[in-house]
Amino acid sequence: MELQGKIAVVTGGASGIGLATVKTFVEKGAKVVIADFDEQNGMQAESALRETGADVLFVKVDVSIEEAVESLIAETVKTYGKIDIIVNNAGVGILGEAHEMTYEEYQKVISINQDGVFFGAKYAIREMLKTGGGVIINTSSILGSVGEPGAFPYNASKGAVNLMTKSLALQYANRGIRVNAVAPGYVESGMVNKEALGDFYDNLVAKHPVGRLGNPEEIAHAVVFLCENEFVTGTTILVDGGYTA
Ligand code: NAI
Repeated sequence: MELQGKIAVVTGGASGIGLATVKTFVEKGAKVVIADFDEQNGMQAESALRETGADVLFVKVDVSIEEAVESLIAETVKTYGKIDIIVNNAGVGILGEAHEMTYEEYQKVISINQDGVFFGAKYAIREMLKTGGGVIINTSSILGSVGEPGAFPYNASKGAVNLMTKSLALQYANRGIRVNAVAPGYVESGMVNKEALGDFYDNLVAKHPVGRLGNPEEIAHAVVFLCENEFVTGTTILVDGGYTA
């Protein structure tokens, strides 16, 4: 699939992996909706990209609220006429031991990382069925396949994303909609960096056989592959520097 002229929505598009994906889509000629909770970073990304001539639109959204995601898709279609690609990427992690965790903390992670994927898929699919197809990419994690002490709700949400991806792919394969996921290892980002994590950062690096963490552009590269290759559906691609090997 050629990305030139395609209409893409990237949730969590104001930072990290999402922002790198937005930029890569723009370089490939797509028009992109930057959908994010963070108004300041979102507006900043929108104006910086528009200055380069990109056709992008920032829409503030909380992906854990169904009506908000419905409005996001409606605004996308109102502005650009259709939706070809959605990257359900917004995500959060809350660390803690299960016996001390509140239900609210658990539920926050599930509602953003898991419910957000459901809502994004649901409303994008409604539009894709009208135009004959599209592509859905969900951002999972290595922690969708392997456990991490202290990341109990995050593990649960990303494991769910992997199987939601397979289920949706099977459900819509004969209607022109492909559904895949990308599962990054640890990636340098606002939350994951040497300054914020100190010694724990070195522990994380040691778990990646390539001897470093990933960068957001390497994940965006895999997202583009999943969009372009029309024979790929129902899969989760690990981009993890050998973490799970
Ligand atoms: P990030 O923190 O740089 O970006 C996440 C973005 O999501 C932020 O702009 C934030 O405002 C937005 N967001 C958070 N809650 C939201 C909500 N309710 N509605 C709309 N937007 C919301 O983090 P990063 O690393 O770029 O994460 C992106 C995705 O990649 C997440 O799903 C994360 O779980 C996943 N991931 C990240 C890894 C890493 O090491 N950085 C590793 C594996 C997966």
